[in-house]
Amino acid sequence: MATHSYSILPSSSSSSIHGQNHQRLNFSSYIAKRVLPAKVSFHSRRNYHLNVVLMQDGAVATPATPVENETPFKKLRDGFLSSVPSTQEFKEAASFDVSKDESTVSITVVGASGDLAKKKIFPALFALYYEGCLPKHFTIFGYARSKMTDAELRNMVSKTLACRIDKRENCGEKIDQFLKRCFYHSGQYDSQENFAELDKKLKEHEGGRVSNRLFYLSIPPNIFIDAVKCTSSSASSGIGWTRVIVEKPFGRDSDSSAALTKALKQYLEEDQIFRIDHYLGKELVENLSVLRFSNLIFEPLWSRQYIRNVQLIFSEDFGTEGRGGYFDNYGILRDIMQNHLLQILALFAMETPVSLDAEDIRNEKVKVLRSMRPLQLEDVVVGQYKSHTKGGVTYPAYIDDNTVPKGSLTPTFAAAALFIDNARWDGVPFLMKAGKALHKKRAEIRVQFRHVPGNLYNQNFETDLDQATNELIIRVQPDEAIDLKINNKVPGLGMRLDHSNLNLHYAARYSKEIPDAYERLLLDAIEGERRLFIRSDELDAAWALFTPVLKELEEKNIIPEYYPYGSRGPVGAHYLAARYNVRWGDLGI
Ligand code: BG6
Repeated sequence: MATHSYSILPSSSSSSIHGQNHQRLNFSSYIAKRVLPAKVSFHSRRNYHLNVVLMQDGAVATPATPVENETPFKKLRDGFLSSVPSTQEFKEAASFDVSKDESTVSITVVGASGDLAKKKIFPALFALYYEGCLPKHFTIFGYARSKMTDAELRNMVSKTLACRIDKRENCGEKIDQFLKRCFYHSGQYDSQENFAELDKKLKEHEGGRVSNRLFYLSIPPNIFIDAVKCTSSSASSGIGWTRVIVEKPFGRDSDSSAALTKALKQYLEEDQIFRIDHYLGKELVENLSVLRFSNLIFEPLWSRQYIRNVQLIFSEDFGTEGRGGYFDNYGILRDIMQNHLLQILALFAMETPVSLDAEDIRNEKVKVLRSMRPLQLEDVVVGQYKSHTKGGVTYPAYIDDNTVPKGSLTPTFAAAALFIDNARWDGVPFLMKAGKALHKKRAEIRVQFRHVPGNLYNQNFETDLDQATNELIIRVQPDEAIDLKINNKVPGLGMRLDHSNLNLHYAARYSKEIPDAYERLLLDAIEGERRLFIRSDELDAAWALFTPVLKELEEKNIIPEYYPYGSRGPVGAHYLAARYNVRWGDLGI
């Protein structure tokens, strides 16, 4: 018997030991083919380190070490893990990890009658079911304060479900089957008793199988902690994992975020907490690393040597419309920049991770965030939309929203210049722009490259040399696309150059519908894949960059620049860019 120690991260690729897609591993054949006989440290995404001695004729388990979910409330499972398991117990533990058949997943949407649940979570769960991505045994529970029967929940959920445009077969049938797996429990968010009732119902559905439980907290932040406390003490899984998805806002600044993290960690281990930033689940954000690390033509250019500036742009063509109550307490810097755009920036600018493992990637993201200069007030422009009449229609001002306090100075638009003080990015401006009630709905990353030194064709560009540089545009939404602007000769006998695009338009290239970000993230949470979720140190680093300027804006009562609803935003954004010799790339759209 060999004595090598392997850490097996199951992978969809049978030739790779480290991989992402652990669920899809044919574990036994992999073991049989590749690592027998060997001493294996089975590092599973499913909560255990099983130190396994494998022999050609079977497996004998040595004591298993829990590596995650070691929370006080899971005594039963911890007890199981801390003793030397029998062969049967080992089989159970192994099947718990690799076989979907022997375990159940119960997904509880806490705050089931809210907007996010209705618009995003239930439809995403259905899409996963429709695609065959959910395990064989799963149950979905809605939990909220309102009184509702199972039938009423199903009726509510059914209104939001849609089948893939590209695969409509058996759509109605699938919806019916899915709805039969949905149930409802009414309860208070701070009631141990109500969560204990939920636990009882979950157990009935789990039918004695290994029960894995995922709780999606789709509730306001002021009740997060109560709900987490009740979940952990009254409704967490006895044997199986318990994971909790939380969605921003994760506090309003460094202190409140740290307090929230501390409170959450009273009841959960860090690796049970799945902090969603749904932008990380978007197809083109996920593709960012693929583009960079698997194409030789990009990675060597990814530095201050070739890149002049990077722009991260988010715009919506509608205002707060009824969400003003929430929004006014946060503003666009907290709502979009400190999380969605900063997360994209970190992925864009990080060094090459050791592997695609969640921890390796998140380590690199934290390093980039920690190498950044905290945002300075002079590098920020804030704006707020005002009423505007166009074509006989009057669009409201931000402060016309009934849910917004009169005279609010909360920014609905911001532009910012950020800098990464490391060897790769020294001096390169990373410009962010985010706004509501602008002329377009759009999210994109624009990378503007430097001039070609000593370009032989300089005289052919006429006066605008700036236009002659290459630009890579990654359009996150809508109409997902990657465009590369190149200089090209206009066909003909003369020598006229123009700026043309090499296009990869997803709709034209791929017939498959692009999954919603929540589908990917929910599936990852079920599979225990943490790569796209925010670790607490990332969160701390992100807040450290924004907290000082947010405080200053509020303390100094900085008046936002007013811009008309439906416009391109305040002109101040252009002055800010010009200060760093940058021209916003979206101007021509
Ligand atoms: C949310 C913000 O995180 O993202 C909203 O709170 C914003 O204000 C939304 O509208 C945008 O998400 P998407 O996926 O529609 O671009």
